[in-house]
Amino acid sequence: TSATPDTSAAAGQEVAALADIPVGGSIDATIGGEPVLVAQPTAGEVVAFSAICTHQGCVVAAAGDRFECPCHGSVFDAATGDVLQGPAPDPLPSVPVSVEGDRVVAG
Ligand code: FES
Repeated sequence: TSATPDTSAAAGQEVAALADIPVGGSIDATIGGEPVLVAQPTAGEVVAFSAICTHQGCVVAAAGDRFECPCHGSVFDAATGDVLQGPAPDPLPSVPVSVEGDRVVAG
């Protein structure tokens, strides 16, 4: 299943430096111990998703403008979390993050 991880307890904690996330790309990170994927589709616009694959729960890896699951080859759009290639049945759940100056923080 694809329950959204509860990262609320980590609100305000730094996830990454904004400069570490390529514009048009993505990185692997964690929020409150949960694996997440953080992308910067356009400069200053940061989005994050659970890295738990909606197929069978493997940890999905950042791969530029895509996220790739190592287990059975699912591919997700790094800007939206949408499935580009199955077998994953559902998008990766969004995780709230915000930009504070030169930092990306949870919540
Ligand atoms: Fe990700 Fe199967 S667990 S494709």
